Amino acid sequence: MGKLYIEGNNILSGTIEISGSKNSAVALIPASLLCDEKVVINNVPEISDIDALIEILEYLEVEIIRNGDTIIIDPINIKNKMINEEISKKLRASYYFMSALLGRFKKVEMYFPGGCNIGKRPIDQTLKGFAALGATIDEVENKYNIYTDELKGAVIDLDMPSVGATINSIFASVKAKGITTINNAAKEPEIGNVIDFLNKMGAKIRGKDTSCIKVEGVEFLSGCSIDVIPDRIEAGTYVILGALVGNNLKISKLVPEHIKALLNKLDEMGVKYLIHEDSIIISKGKNLNSVNIKTEGYPGFATDLQQPITVLLTQCNGISILEETIYENRFQNVEYLNKMGATIKIIDRKIEINGYTGLFGEEVKATDLRAGACMVLAALTAEGKTEIDDIEHVLRGYENIVQKLKNVGAKIKKD
Ligand code: EPU
Repeated sequence: MGKLYIEGNNILSGTIEISGSKNSAVALIPASLLCDEKVVINNVPEISDIDALIEILEYLEVEIIRNGDTIIIDPINIKNKMINEEISKKLRASYYFMSALLGRFKKVEMYFPGGCNIGKRPIDQTLKGFAALGATIDEVENKYNIYTDELKGAVIDLDMPSVGATINSIFASVKAKGITTINNAAKEPEIGNVIDFLNKMGAKIRGKDTSCIKVEGVEFLSGCSIDVIPDRIEAGTYVILGALVGNNLKISKLVPEHIKALLNKLDEMGVKYLIHEDSIIISKGKNLNSVNIKTEGYPGFATDLQQPITVLLTQCNGISILEETIYENRFQNVEYLNKMGATIKIIDRKIEINGYTGLFGEEVKATDLRAGACMVLAALTAEGKTEIDDIEHVLRGYENIVQKLKNVGAKIKKD
């Protein structure tokens, strides 16, 4: 595993451009397998999760041309092969192949998906959707054999607004016979991006950005192109960085509305920033107020920004309470923040951050993707040198992070 070396407490200024959204791109790529012609996906981030997906496409004998941030996918000669455990475990998004292959071939064989170790992350809601559409699911020791003669439109009532189960239900129903209604659907902007892509192909999906999505099955999907939306979690991470050590740091090519819940919390803290149509200019906050935060599905405060914002809460005056409602194991960053000088207590699914505390350089670890982002922010804020181990986790989701940070004046290097 690689390391990052950061010398902190430098004021950063200039511009950081936001890349295409990881969580959109990892769904749009499998969505292309439902198409009966060639598709083009633009603004795809160059991150290792995308490399892992491309490997799966190549294994399925899909024709791919990758040119910078554009990927052309021709799924015409795809082979419906069993996806083995090693491939399935590479990332969470591998489970989009379950529904895309089921939707295309009415049959799929693969293993339980991988992803960050941040909780149990069951897939019961995805399977419930497949079963409602008429599929039989045989599970033996983490291996799923899912098949049917015909997928038929149905009502799918999700127990919780799961991003994965919403997208999987859409993929499995887009070519099913009749109408599918997905109730209690998730409303994350990435799902809207996926719906736009499928509708451009000729799918009939209504209810984008609402908790009730209706899919009228079609037989044929035609080629088209789509742009991946800006990554709201990458954007939020760098906006928080600006509040920590920015001097008119400009975060560009983002959708401010997608990080509204974060901006509301920055307002409460007293951080000053300027919003333009697709950029935010932000500077280090002074004398910040403590705030309470609870993670929720979109448009609530994103769980993926929970670990990054913890660093900013250590710089606020007084006690802040942060409650994680989505994942059971998303506080692995706390041990390392405390090692760097923070005073944080874990109380069940909440943490209590007692600020203000200065941070100083230490040897720490990126235990998962967003915990790693948290460590990078902490290191850039801290006095002295920090060494972050297991940096591969961060490279899964932040395009070109080292160069982007160097460009605004950070002292950072990777081995
Ligand atoms: N859940 C179930 N059963 C299911 C599905 C979900 O109990 O069948 C639970 C999960 O255990 C979790 C909650 O519902 O507690 C939310 O899970 P969801 O399905 O919404 O999450 P996901 O699809 O697995 C995506 C992102 C995550 C992001 C969440 C929430 C991708 C590849 N991953 O995960 O991103 O945290 O939505 O917004 O899109 C990240 O980027 O760091 C990341 C973890």
